[in-house]
Amino acid sequence: MTIEPDNQTINTLSAEAQDDLLSRGFNRRDLGRIAAVFGTGAAMVAVSGTPAWASGGVPDPAPVAKTRIGANECWTGPLMPGQLAAHAMVSQSNRYAPHDERGDFIKAVMQVEGVPYDHVAPWPGSSDPLCRSVVTYCSPTKGLVTANPTFELAGRTAAWLGAPVKEVPLLPDMRHDVKGMLAANPNAGLYYICTPNNPTGTITPIEDIVWLLENKPAGSMVLVDEAYTHFAGVPVASKLVTKYKDLIVMRTFSKIFGMAGMRMGYIMTNPDNIMKMMRYDGGMQSGALPLPSLVCATASLTDHAGIAKRKAEMEAARAYALDALKRKGIKTMPTMANMFMVEWGNKTAKDMQARFLTQSVAIGRSWPIWPNVSRITVGSMEDMKNFVLALDKVWTA
Ligand SMILES: Cc1ncc(COP(=O)(O)O)c(C=O)c1O
Repeated sequence: MTIEPDNQTINTLSAEAQDDLLSRGFNRRDLGRIAAVFGTGAAMVAVSGTPAWASGGVPDPAPVAKTRIGANECWTGPLMPGQLAAHAMVSQSNRYAPHDERGDFIKAVMQVEGVPYDHVAPWPGSSDPLCRSVVTYCSPTKGLVTANPTFELAGRTAAWLGAPVKEVPLLPDMRHDVKGMLAANPNAGLYYICTPNNPTGTITPIEDIVWLLENKPAGSMVLVDEAYTHFAGVPVASKLVTKYKDLIVMRTFSKIFGMAGMRMGYIMTNPDNIMKMMRYDGGMQSGALPLPSLVCATASLTDHAGIAKRKAEMEAARAYALDALKRKGIKTMPTMANMFMVEWGNKTAKDMQARFLTQSVAIGRSWPIWPNVSRITVGSMEDMKNFVLALDKVWTA
């Protein structure tokens, strides 16, 4: 399906946004496509032009599987303070904002991250600001540099927009190759760094991110996606956002906070960048968040004991699964997050995924550069026990 622009669609963009896009080399047809992404609220668009949330007519087998360890979701729901806050908010949701729930959320981020109020913007999940940052900073003349393998949404959005995309392989120790990324396009619109990386769960150290910020040209942006950072417990890039204007740090509540279906995320960056990213929809997506989700996120952010308990649970379940694989002589890659990569030797990941599904275990997919490697999400200990039981049935060396 292709989205055909019409004036009505294009006019959902402000005159300033239209001028900006045209001055950066987009044509009117591109404007229609961009307006269709944001103006109608369909924030996430796949290569084909259809929202990636839609199944495309093929039912997803994962929901019927007993053990779902394929989509990097959390194995359990929101932290208890978040659940209680969301529940209490439902009865007050006749108001757009009974108090200042959006402001309270931003204040909680300030407290936890030590960033100023005007450096924070919430969004319904992080897929929207991820796509939006590509639209804001890339164009047919300003490319995207991303890693391989990594989370593909930035690359897909750039390709869909007609912006040049460079994919740079991870280093042998699975860090992002920041020097290689800068060399691949020394004047990119956006450098995308995912740490811990999806799918490998590996960390790119802060020193490497600082190196990129210090060596890239002014105006080229660096987007650091820290979706899985609470599972790793490593130094975070939010500490850098007041020093470096060209840095955007992005978070989601879809992972350790167990809120994938509640849709909450946020960015931390210079206020000018927030204004630029908001101009495509007049701040609609960031400003009009569902109240139960907003208050759930606010209450969860400061539940440090709950977050630490979840991290420890994940580590125990991950150790159990990795140990079982090792005992069978199956190779895995090192990881710091709630996912790990399994090398199946001469069997394809696709074949292994089908075999596990016969045992009602939905494991993750592979990435094109490693067709015989599957990404497995760390679920609960029970999930990992089911995974190991299924492995006993489906694995033949
Ligand atoms: C690295 C990374 N970034 C962003 C996202 C988007 O998540 P959401 O839109 O649920 O916040 C995901 C989802 O899996 C992810 O793995």
